[in-house]
Amino acid sequence: MTVPSLRTGAPPLRLPGEHFIAALAFLIVGAAGLWRIAPELSNGAYPAAQVVAVTHLFTLGWITTSIMGALYQFLPVALNQPIASERLAHATFGLHVAGVALMVTGIGVHHATTLGVGLVLLGTGIAIFIGNLGVTLRRAARRELTWWSLCLAATFLAIAFLVGLALAIGRFTGFLGAGHDLALRVHLHAGLFGWVMLVIVGVSHRLLPMFLLSHGGSERFARWAVLLIASGAALLTVFHHLAVLGRELPVVLLAAGLVAWVVQARVFFRHRHRPQLDAGLRLSAIAIALLALTPLVLGRFLFPGVSASARTLYGGLIVAGCALFVAAQYYKIVPFLIWNRHFGPLAGTRPLPRVADLYAAKEATVAIAMLAAGATAVLAGISTGAAGVVRIGTFLLMAGALVEARQLWGVSRRRP
Ligand code: HEM
Repeated sequence: MTVPSLRTGAPPLRLPGEHFIAALAFLIVGAAGLWRIAPELSNGAYPAAQVVAVTHLFTLGWITTSIMGALYQFLPVALNQPIASERLAHATFGLHVAGVALMVTGIGVHHATTLGVGLVLLGTGIAIFIGNLGVTLRRAARRELTWWSLCLAATFLAIAFLVGLALAIGRFTGFLGAGHDLALRVHLHAGLFGWVMLVIVGVSHRLLPMFLLSHGGSERFARWAVLLIASGAALLTVFHHLAVLGRELPVVLLAAGLVAWVVQARVFFRHRHRPQLDAGLRLSAIAIALLALTPLVLGRFLFPGVSASARTLYGGLIVAGCALFVAAQYYKIVPFLIWNRHFGPLAGTRPLPRVADLYAAKEATVAIAMLAAGATAVLAGISTGAAGVVRIGTFLLMAGALVEARQLWGVSRRRP
């Protein structure tokens, strides 16, 4: 059984736990926020202040907070190296959560001081996080795909922050002028592809085979995925002002990188020795299928005259795919952690529930069905311009997020 490997050298549960609780709170608030911005989404008004605010409840609040918490647990497993400083990791957590909350409020209500304080807290948190992760990575002797993807991802997080900072100041002062759209393009791709997708590729490369009990399949597609996504995001960052090097080529590289990752995930699923897929793996498969659609929408950017609705759909699709992929991992990671902590030490002394018995499978099926249907309806509402459909999707998303959060809370209270 692969279960114990998730705990070797891992920090106390409090560290990932506090991240997971805050992230779930951001997810629920974000889903509620979608209701408010349904008209803007269906009109393709992606630069609207409330849309940007809600976007960051998902990207920074839900996805990034989850990544931070999960990495603290995952680093000892993947790199044989625990996070360099747990104390700094707790400090990052406080700064990050307060920073995101203030930044989102500041952008949403257009209040410069709130935004400014939020950006200082957030920037400090991100700087400490990158420093702490950097020291950990430097100490790691094992430098394989996961190591490289985390190094690159941390670099892109720094770029996303710096350009995001400029965009935030630009919203109040207009100092970016005509460069605003280019900066947004760099920021969005550094954040979604450079930061989030590279973490997903690097981490899923270890977690998917472990959760699926998959072995024997080729792993070369993951290497291609990292190479293509990182070069696409880097070219776009450096040559954003140039036509081919900064636009068409990055589009092709990013799309090819996503395809490579989807193919890699398919290889893992096909070589699995666990035929039955549980809730977490089914939601992972749904999220991968959503992300597999992204290259089709991305291809539209090879031609001039992309509408505001197509841009909104593009951003929404990647955010939704990444958000669902993260939600799927919670169904795997939280029960594993609780089982290892409270049940594992009793193994062999008495009959124990299996990891999957820690939550009700039928309820989890309802949760993932609502999350998947909700995300699909929101995206369908954006592409057809129907605010009502976005709202139906929002309702489903919110219900799914609440059921998942309630179930995970129940799992966290389970004791032998
Ligand atoms: C690290 C701190 C960050 C700051 C300060 C920041 C700031 C901003 C700002 C000010 C905008 C609005 C740009 C405009 O005026 O149109 C924006 C847009 C956006 N950001 Fe961030 N951001 C940050 C991190 C991230 C991350 C990590 C991601 C992705 C994972 C991300 C994804 C996006 C997306 C998708 C948009 C476009 C939203 C829309 O147009 O509706 N951001 N960001």
